Amino acid sequence: MTKVLVATDKAFAPVAVKGIRQVVEQAGFELVLLENYTNPDDFKKAIADADAVIVRSDKTDKAVIDSGQNLKIVVRAGAGYDNVDLPAATAKGVVVMNTPGQNSNAVAELALGLMVYYVRNFFNGKSGWELKDKKLGIHAYGAVGKNVARIAKGFGMDVYAFDPFIPKEAIEKDGVKWLGSVEELYSKCNFISLHIPANSQTRQSVNSALLSRMPSPAVLVNTARAEVINEADLLKMFQERKDFAYLSDVEPSNKAEIEAGFKAKYFCTPKKMGAQTEEANVNAGIAAAKQIVNFINNGDKTFQVNK
Ligand code: 3PG
Repeated sequence: MTKVLVATDKAFAPVAVKGIRQVVEQAGFELVLLENYTNPDDFKKAIADADAVIVRSDKTDKAVIDSGQNLKIVVRAGAGYDNVDLPAATAKGVVVMNTPGQNSNAVAELALGLMVYYVRNFFNGKSGWELKDKKLGIHAYGAVGKNVARIAKGFGMDVYAFDPFIPKEAIEKDGVKWLGSVEELYSKCNFISLHIPANSQTRQSVNSALLSRMPSPAVLVNTARAEVINEADLLKMFQERKDFAYLSDVEPSNKAEIEAGFKAKYFCTPKKMGAQTEEANVNAGIAAAKQIVNFINNGDKTFQVNK
């Protein structure tokens, strides 16, 4: 029987697991759950006889992929697939997919939530300030960026976007001001919301050269990936600019240093929470399960990312 493993060190909401189970069992496949595991060896053991696996940010490296004797497909229930070793999967003939857009509203709501939390002084009772009329720069206008724009416009923010892969017209159609370079985005906006993936082009690309352009007060919001930030430059920004704040859903590796010196200007969720809603879990989890069934039964490779 075709075995579908759900390996999630940060478990889906029960309602999503129920939906995944329904899709998998209706297809006549078996569902195996490995939730909230802490030892990567448990993932290697569980994948040994699986035909398909659904993961989130779970590290799916060569060792894990090579442990899957029957493995045919890995679906990352979410957008970013930097946690999956694509060359290792390709070398083994394993298809890798993501589920683009399925959790994007949840991440976007968190990005705005972080901004509100900060401008209201982390709800400490002291007078804060408002988002209305402030300039927000969306760095990458994919599914999350688009939702951030929609919500930010509801707050009355002045919304700008830069994305070299999205046509100007598609951005302007949403009532968002298009900018032709990343430098312009950072030079213009007090708030920057990051939505770039982590890849060889973007790793450490958010550096002093960009951040130092931001007008005062400068607020950087990262619900994307820690790897896209140059963390030495991030610390330098805190040291050089009293007006600089960093709000994140992805913990920087130099968190201790930042917390020690700049507590009032920094907040990071204790665990990555952007996509952690029932709705996003249902959307992404069920999409992943359906993609697996469609691939196994019909060879459908829509959303394959290791072509
Ligand atoms: C994504 O890439 O889809 C988001 O970063 C969510 O990641 P998560 O599923 O690990 O919460």
